[in-house]
Amino acid sequence: MRKPLMAANWKMFKTPADTTAFFSAFLPLVKDASQSEIAVCAPFIDLPAALTAAAGSNVSVGAQNLYWANEGAFTGEISGPMLKALGCTWVIVGHSERRQYFGETDETVLRRTKAAIAAGLKVILCVGEMLEEREANQTEAVLHKQFGAGVAGLTPEEFAEVVIAYEPVWAIGTGKTATPEMAADAHKTIRHLAAAAFGEAAAASLRILYGGSVKPDNVSSLMAQEEIDGALVGGASLDPASFSKIVNF
Ligand code: 13P
Repeated sequence: MRKPLMAANWKMFKTPADTTAFFSAFLPLVKDASQSEIAVCAPFIDLPAALTAAAGSNVSVGAQNLYWANEGAFTGEISGPMLKALGCTWVIVGHSERRQYFGETDETVLRRTKAAIAAGLKVILCVGEMLEEREANQTEAVLHKQFGAGVAGLTPEEFAEVVIAYEPVWAIGTGKTATPEMAADAHKTIRHLAAAAFGEAAAASLRILYGGSVKPDNVSSLMAQEEIDGALVGGASLDPASFSKIVNF
């Protein structure tokens, strides 16, 4: 039985003061939510405020990126051991916005993922196709490529620390959600790839999240799909009431 994970990706939103205010409103709304694990992935500068506010609660905290070296002359970067030392549990790797705007490739996704796990972090690793790729019936091919180059190079022990988020790029921030059936199909493809690379048992326990315009009013139909093990939520995670409705779907 896979326990759902409901993860917020705040992207480049909120100050430390906003973060503290979010948690004081959010925590009481989710304190009895035992059906799901809850994570909030915040901008780097908000992590101390998030960790202080979430201490002792049922909400864990994560970052949205990391660099693969532990330390060194890499101006502007943050490493896995730094995030771990702060108290983070999670880190997002390979989000489509990093692939689109910041040169992330399947190869750098793999390097970041290995570094995160070596530092003791759990990874939410993002995959998903662009609109042109879906329209050209390339969704499966894209997932094969992203999985083959970005995930299959992990060891079985590393793979056990990974959650995959399927985020069709055309559904991110557009209000267009993949239908629950479309998402479930893509999740099935990913689970087949996981079985081929790591075996049936590892594939059966892999959590695959859906991301892309998840809102309080569509979360239940998505979560009704057996293949969907949670959500990675952007816009609707910025408001405590709306993210709590998603968590308490
Ligand atoms: P939206 O929920 O705003 O569409 O963002 C999805 C996403 O990219 C989460 O990582």
